[in-house]
Amino acid sequence: MRAAGKGRFAGKADPTAAKFSRSVHFDQRLAKHDLEGSRAHATMLGRVGVLTRSEVSAIVRGLDRMEREIAAGKFRWKDSLEDVHMNLEAALTEKVPAGAKLHTGRSRNDQVATDLRLWIREQIAGDLEAIRNLQKALLQLGEKHQEVILPGYTHLQRGQPVTLAHHFLAYVEMLERDHGRLVDAAKRADVMPLGSGALAGSTLRLNREIPRKLLKFGQLSRNSMDAVSDRDFLVEYLGAVALTGVHLSRLAEDLILFSSAEFAFVKFGEGFTTGSSLMPQKRNPDMAELVRGKSGRLIGHLVSLLTVLKGLPLTYNRDLQEDKECVFDAADTIRSSLEVMARAVASLEVDAGACLYAVSSPELLATDVADALVRAGLPFRKAHQVVGAAVRHAEGAGTRIDRLSRQVWESLASGMGRVVEEVLAGSPVTRLKRALHARSSVVGAPSLSGVQKELKQWKKRVQ
Ligand code: ARG
Repeated sequence: MRAAGKGRFAGKADPTAAKFSRSVHFDQRLAKHDLEGSRAHATMLGRVGVLTRSEVSAIVRGLDRMEREIAAGKFRWKDSLEDVHMNLEAALTEKVPAGAKLHTGRSRNDQVATDLRLWIREQIAGDLEAIRNLQKALLQLGEKHQEVILPGYTHLQRGQPVTLAHHFLAYVEMLERDHGRLVDAAKRADVMPLGSGALAGSTLRLNREIPRKLLKFGQLSRNSMDAVSDRDFLVEYLGAVALTGVHLSRLAEDLILFSSAEFAFVKFGEGFTTGSSLMPQKRNPDMAELVRGKSGRLIGHLVSLLTVLKGLPLTYNRDLQEDKECVFDAADTIRSSLEVMARAVASLEVDAGACLYAVSSPELLATDVADALVRAGLPFRKAHQVVGAAVRHAEGAGTRIDRLSRQVWESLASGMGRVVEEVLAGSPVTRLKRALHARSSVVGAPSLSGVQKELKQWKKRVQ
């Protein structure tokens, strides 16, 4: 069937054209929202006198029945009816004659824009919850291993000691920004296009406030031409989830590295790893790898939609039908990635000993030694030079900076031997704890007490 019905066209669409353009196999995902929009539209048509009361109630009952059929998987979708909108309208009209009046003052252009906005509102609500769940899993991991110290890296070279909780709290922060971006995207989606018609509203005296209230939209769109062709809200969603996906990919990468034998800081629960078909000993972090890999699709979908939009003249063009598959796939991809990550993180076992071993080299406290020299009066550049020279000296002598004699330090910076010892003395655990404690007064630094406070605040926030 053609949207224009039998009127304008004498014959049928070319079969390749029909197959090429149909969308019902993917846009039936909007059925629930389409029915919701139709109920609101019918109710409004009744209130403004286009439909009689009994016509409205017959239509609404018919739509309700169809919703139950769809939920039960009993609705018969017809490819020949092109898209979700025409399928639902045709099925209604088959049973309820007044269904033929439902499309009064409405176009599929404002209809599909409304459906998508209803759909994304629901989608984002679920995504926000999934983000919270991953944050909770990261917080629980941090809480359970509050005392675990490991190296913080730059350039993937050991830099300075941090706590495991501090490391994973970094991801809690990223996810919080993702959360904020999605909340923001939802605000911009909270505008109702219904009533904009094909592009220029209607000559019928529609009351747009009625469906706006019924559908719980915050605002009415204020320009009918913009309303039917605006897909910014989908771009914003794709942007937000692409970045969320990039964050998940970085987390996945950290966990893949950390779970390798080279690091051996963590171990994924068995359920989140796979064996090799050839190498019997393998335990591969496939879930994390897939999360990392799937972020590529998310980035691609953002670029796809931007590209679809960039050359479009106002107003609606059929190109816009290409918005759905990328947005639906992005929605499924980000949701499943968040869910599997939350569970994989919860499954992690931490090897505190391996972390300590990696962080116990005294060279990781080189910056702390330089800071101590600064406190004792040396300009930082000089202090940096002194410690650098000490590291080089130790390397040449086949030893480590905590084993250099006081004379060596005195020869590099006279009167500073004691100052250096105060930083490097004691067992690795003692001096590392001292080093973290020394960071207590700096907001955002990984002191044990600071991190503990952060964990507490985050826990309250994500509940
Ligand atoms: N399936 C179409 C889409 O998603 C619905 C709108 C069709 N409108 C039109 N004028 N052909 O974009």
